[in-house]
Amino acid sequence: MKKQLLALVATLAVGASALAADPKLVINPDQPGPVIHRNIYGQFAEHLGTGIYEGMWVGPESKIPNVRGWRKDVVSALKDLKVPLVRWPGGCFADEYHWRDGIGPRNKRPIKINTNWGGVPETNAVGTHEFFDLVEQLGAEAYVNGNLGTGSAQEMSEWLEYMTGEGKSTLTDLRRKNGRDKPFRVHYFAVGNESWGCGGNMRPEYYVDLYRQAVTFLKTPEKNRPLFIASGGHDARTDWTEVLAKGLKGVPFDAISHHGYTLPTGKWEKKGSAVGFPEAEWISTLAHTQRVDEWVRKNTAILDQHDPARKVGFYFDEWGSWYDPEPGSNPGFLVQRNTLRDALLAALHFHVFHAHAERVKMSNVAQMVNVLQAMILTSKDQLVLTPTYHAFKLYTPFQDATSLPVRIDDNPVYKVGAVEMPGLSATAARGKDGKLYVGLVNANANQPAELTVQVGSTSPKAARGQLLTAAAMDAQNELGKAPQVLPQAYEAQAAGGRLTLKLPAKSVLVVAIEG
Ligand code: AHR
Repeated sequence: MKKQLLALVATLAVGASALAADPKLVINPDQPGPVIHRNIYGQFAEHLGTGIYEGMWVGPESKIPNVRGWRKDVVSALKDLKVPLVRWPGGCFADEYHWRDGIGPRNKRPIKINTNWGGVPETNAVGTHEFFDLVEQLGAEAYVNGNLGTGSAQEMSEWLEYMTGEGKSTLTDLRRKNGRDKPFRVHYFAVGNESWGCGGNMRPEYYVDLYRQAVTFLKTPEKNRPLFIASGGHDARTDWTEVLAKGLKGVPFDAISHHGYTLPTGKWEKKGSAVGFPEAEWISTLAHTQRVDEWVRKNTAILDQHDPARKVGFYFDEWGSWYDPEPGSNPGFLVQRNTLRDALLAALHFHVFHAHAERVKMSNVAQMVNVLQAMILTSKDQLVLTPTYHAFKLYTPFQDATSLPVRIDDNPVYKVGAVEMPGLSATAARGKDGKLYVGLVNANANQPAELTVQVGSTSPKAARGQLLTAAAMDAQNELGKAPQVLPQAYEAQAAGGRLTLKLPAKSVLVVAIEG
């Protein structure tokens, strides 16, 4: 009897697994969605720790090879990444930054204390001219963040005149005297940063009045008019979006800046470690990232009520992982290691931003070098490209691509303890080169996955691209050591009329689909 019962249980188990269908990726190529603005792949460089000084700027006299002070190796790696946009000078730093401190002979510039980040001296060696030199070397657009917190409408308006003015004025002559004849091209200008917190601890209603007043005086030549960005909320908050959307009618207002960081534990006092973490923190981090979709959805739904023509952008201009600081580092420098987990986290953000490309026309990872979820880590003349760098590189074909509807049928659930999330995530787009690109994430730390691919009603013939994975959840690329996370060439051919993509556990895959 016992034997019969065991046989029955075994049969039921086989039957159940036979019933669990393989996941299927279904792309609809005939209903193109909005263009994925390349500035979704923007980057953030703040005067913070060694993010700018040492990490990127070494000064023209340095022995480290540089072009007018900017490290050649770093600029070259960032150019390979096709960085489309750089946001500067902060962050919290922006609301204490006075632009006049950063012009003229560098040895005469005032030294200030960086009160936000470690209380260290700020030499102002990098100022307006140096920043624009960087973006011009990168071929990127410039996003300048104005100072509303300790600044004024007058100070911001004079900065814009200094940067963009064409005719003769004391300020444009000063720019010329400082070595720049033609105006700088300012693509975006933000009025304050995180005005709910480090930018002034304001209520949104008060901010709305300050913004309205300031933006009235922010004038530039028409052809050099930046898009004006209002400081918005963060995470799941929607109150700032609500008040801004209602209160900023009738004044220049092109977008809201929203911020959201991913902390493994969700707690600022003990965020979780960047390396050596348990699987529970792998999944909590990635599941948290998936909530970004809900935050964007809720906020853009509010914008839709007030701006049905969808003229106002919802820019996610600070995102990324935020872990406990690297032991032994200055906690104000926000130094953290970067692992395979960060590569998946970046890819999941891209998928969300692509899905909301109609409103999310810009986002900036925090930050570019040596700070938080950096692309590059440096020490003296050494440099290492992080797993996040490689994730950005894989997704470059999505810059200015046209998004396509995509879904995963029978998506397996990934569960650890009480936390669960969809095991697979996908995005698809028609690239500027005409190819059909797919990005995939297998969040499961242990189980590989296989997906069949369907494009419209047909089964494609092949897929070629690059895969990012590693043996350990916290595999990293360390200075002076062989990198553990590097892209590998990937190829799959259809068999029996079906194209199947095999994804190892904990992996990111970007492929062009053929046939
Ligand atoms: O990226 C670090 C800081 O995080 C920024 O300065 C601030 O805007 C945010 O709180």
